[in-house]
Amino acid sequence: MDLSLPEFLALSDREKAARVGDRAVLYAQQFDRAQLDALCRLADAARDLHRHPEGRELMGSLLKYRMALNFFVQPSSRTFMSFNTAQAYLGMSRMSVRDVKISSMSKGELLVDSVRTFISYVDLVVMRHGDENAAAAAFWTATRAHRRITLDDGEERPVPIVSGGSGTKQHPTQALLDIYTLQRSLEPVGGLDGKTLLLVGDLARGRTVRSLSYLMRNYTGIELVFAAPERYQMLPDILAFLDAHGIEWRKAHSISEAVAEADAVYMTRIQDEYDDLRGPGHEAAGHDFVFTREHLGRMKPTACLMHPLPKRDEIEPEIDYVDDPRVVYWRQERNGMWMRVAILARLFRVGDRILRAAV
Ligand code: CP
Repeated sequence: MDLSLPEFLALSDREKAARVGDRAVLYAQQFDRAQLDALCRLADAARDLHRHPEGRELMGSLLKYRMALNFFVQPSSRTFMSFNTAQAYLGMSRMSVRDVKISSMSKGELLVDSVRTFISYVDLVVMRHGDENAAAAAFWTATRAHRRITLDDGEERPVPIVSGGSGTKQHPTQALLDIYTLQRSLEPVGGLDGKTLLLVGDLARGRTVRSLSYLMRNYTGIELVFAAPERYQMLPDILAFLDAHGIEWRKAHSISEAVAEADAVYMTRIQDEYDDLRGPGHEAAGHDFVFTREHLGRMKPTACLMHPLPKRDEIEPEIDYVDDPRVVYWRQERNGMWMRVAILARLFRVGDRILRAAV
């Protein structure tokens, strides 16, 4: 890295993504269609392989003796647990830092110094942080530090940094698992190309919908419909990105307005943990943005209902237990574990061994 940290952070996300390449996972913009398709194939292969004892054994040998740190200083259940499980399936040893109060950051240590310390001991850092620049700063530190990991083919690389959620701006691995879920759910109708996605809820501060919107440039004929009260509507930077890439979008004032035409409905929670930073106290989105049994009745027979979770009251509770294959959000979170196996296998270049063994 030839740039100082301020110079690196001052680059646009597109420029930063280009510099990251395949050495880390920080931005949804890093991924092209071929890479997305390859990750989905790899997640499928890992899922198949893990059904058999020999397959589990092989997977568990791939990253044996590698150490992962899960550095999550914002709350998380499924990202933290699915990364832990994915690491275990690949044979990695694991440790975690989840509370800065019991690390030396509480003594005033700078994030970049903490990360430099972490990478003295571990071969991978997965991190969730409230500061949208924290993962980029960690990547910069990893590229500047002397410590390198050696891949099986002999290449030396900086310790990989993976964002498990960066402030309100990016959640790239969630977007990857969402693509995997969309492609699986929409497979009977030709996959994601040509489909209409209805995104609902807190689109202004929802990092999942932002990262997913970036990935849409890799698919043809997509239309995005943003249903939210105006205060929670999608921000201009994403709308400008969609315009620049010729992706159709429009705003809606309720779920009802667009549910019948949607191929996927993606619900989100109001992100009121950011209220102190950016605005008024918790305000529910309102009844127009709560998904009900009536909406389910109007959805296409081939459509799917997604949610990155956790959820509160934005989906009627009885929908959790209906016997309807269109309700996929519980499967979506399990898909996340397989996609995270694929992400880690790709980072450490052991994916081909999974693909070869799975055939
Ligand atoms: N979807 C998601 O990021 O969930 P967690 O906050 O539980 O990790």
